[in-house]
Amino acid sequence: MCGIVGYIGKEEALPVLINGLKALEYRGYDSAGVAILVDGEIKVKKSVGQVKVLEKDLEHEKFLGHLGIGHTRWATHGAPTESNAHPHTDCSGRISVVHNGIIENYKELKKYLETAGHKFTSETDTEVVPHLIENFLKQGNNFDTALIDTLKMVKGAYALAIIDRDNPETLYATKLSSPLVVGAGVGENFLASDPSALIGKTKKVIYLKDGEIAKINSRDIRVINLEKEVSPFEIIQLEWNLEQAQKGDYPHFMLKEIFEGPEVVRATFRGRVRSSKNLVKLGGLEQVRERLKEVKRIIILACGTSYYAGLIGEYLFEEITKLPTEVHFASEFRYRDEPFDEGTAVIVISQSGETADTLAVLEKAKKQDLLTLGIVNTVGSTIARETDAGVYNHAGPEIGVASTKAFLSQLTVLIMMAIYLSKDKSSTKVILKELEDIPAKIEKILAQSDNIKKLAEKCRGYDNFLFLGRRYNYPVALEGALKLKEISYIHAEGYGAGEMKHGPIAMISEDFPTMAIIPQNSVSDKMLSNIEEIKARKGPVFVIATEGDERSASLANEVIYVPKTLEPFEPLLTIVPLQLFAYYVGTNKGFDVDKPRNLAKSVTVE
Ligand code: M6R
Repeated sequence: MCGIVGYIGKEEALPVLINGLKALEYRGYDSAGVAILVDGEIKVKKSVGQVKVLEKDLEHEKFLGHLGIGHTRWATHGAPTESNAHPHTDCSGRISVVHNGIIENYKELKKYLETAGHKFTSETDTEVVPHLIENFLKQGNNFDTALIDTLKMVKGAYALAIIDRDNPETLYATKLSSPLVVGAGVGENFLASDPSALIGKTKKVIYLKDGEIAKINSRDIRVINLEKEVSPFEIIQLEWNLEQAQKGDYPHFMLKEIFEGPEVVRATFRGRVRSSKNLVKLGGLEQVRERLKEVKRIIILACGTSYYAGLIGEYLFEEITKLPTEVHFASEFRYRDEPFDEGTAVIVISQSGETADTLAVLEKAKKQDLLTLGIVNTVGSTIARETDAGVYNHAGPEIGVASTKAFLSQLTVLIMMAIYLSKDKSSTKVILKELEDIPAKIEKILAQSDNIKKLAEKCRGYDNFLFLGRRYNYPVALEGALKLKEISYIHAEGYGAGEMKHGPIAMISEDFPTMAIIPQNSVSDKMLSNIEEIKARKGPVFVIATEGDERSASLANEVIYVPKTLEPFEPLLTIVPLQLFAYYVGTNKGFDVDKPRNLAKSVTVE
């Protein structure tokens, strides 16, 4: 977690750093800080809280310089205080460092450095880095060697941006298991944890690889490895634009991103689906086409919302592709000893493409020589690069910490993949035709946002919520509950409705409402029986039902309608009112829904 930025070039560094940090705040917002080289000295400013606090604190200070680094923190080691905020410096103030990741052996390094006389001012793991560099400089090394010797001593994960008072023309960057991109400009260059901080500045990025060190000046970018050999790099052209990374007229990114749903689904299948020809074309999978023919079993691995999309993928692959499929939390799977056989393909799903656990299971699968496929939103991210092949979501940057539009695009990719992989295409034409109609159906749901807002107002007083669904809507219940938890801090549990009688029904009372997802489908009768059981115990019931379904409506305290669709597509519709519901409950309670407490968008540490 944490966001880091760096700048060197013709502009004043401070505004570039502040804007970059604001774009990265979704990664953490416990504290923020900058270090800028001003008249031959490094000046540091740090503030507790969001970047806007730092910006205000800097209003009357002179931080004029053309080389600088910045940080927005999600606290791991040490409380969110000013002294623990980054950047961190060595004893002399010559070196300043910002860090994303965890230095696992920092305690022993700190002890060693303290014994050697270094004075520490924070409780962070990061602070060992500038002191170690200082230590190696004191031994007579030049900066490159001191940095390399430091990196050889630290264990863990890091993306580091570093400035050295005595190298005023160079911004240093290096990484291991945490993401870092260099943005290539004209007469200026940038550094950021991910490209969203560079939108509007440059569309050309270089993804640093593990163990590489970038030495960046205003005209040139050089990359070397830990042996000081030149490391070749590729410049990737970004597709994202400035408008996508701004809120526009919306009060929050989350609302904007929910309302982008129809266009996101269109963008995901655009150019890939031709229903009239019963055709799905996924260019990213063409290179492994032959290997895909041998696939006999699929394992989907992901975290959070991406995991719930994977659960829906399991139903899709079984029903459409007829392939045995299983889904696991990446965080669990990384420590399992699951036996693999030939013909197993692993699909990793990740919006950011940087989630540490998902990356770890990808590496595990690669070691077993399994075919690895990615469903990733962030172009050029580590997971996208490390998989054998994959399909990009094309959802555009997702800034709100709670994932919304990425979920819709993940489901759209999974539907296309299920059809692409299926050998029997006799029934897929009708599915593809329906896919083309989904965006208009989502628009119909969004048009009811005022009703959903009113329902949210009525529900703001509840402390608990049960979400029930079945089959394709069981993962929707899990995701609906996750959204409410994340955004409104209301305790919410998602359950398969059939499991209700095995325990959760004990919680039901007039203060414990249920959100039931009951589109008319193969299991709606079963769902309705469960709802009767809840009503009999005086539990309030809110229902997501198919347009015109009087039966569900008659049982519900309130009903939200979604258009009729094929069962595999239901999640693309039923999740939308639940996203809006969570959004409106959260905003009604006055919470900052784009930056929910304790969360960070991209979980790049274990
Ligand atoms: O970037 P990823 O898709 O790998 O992220 C996975 C989860 O961290 C993410 O979905 C998280 O659960 C979100 N907060 C959900 O809203």
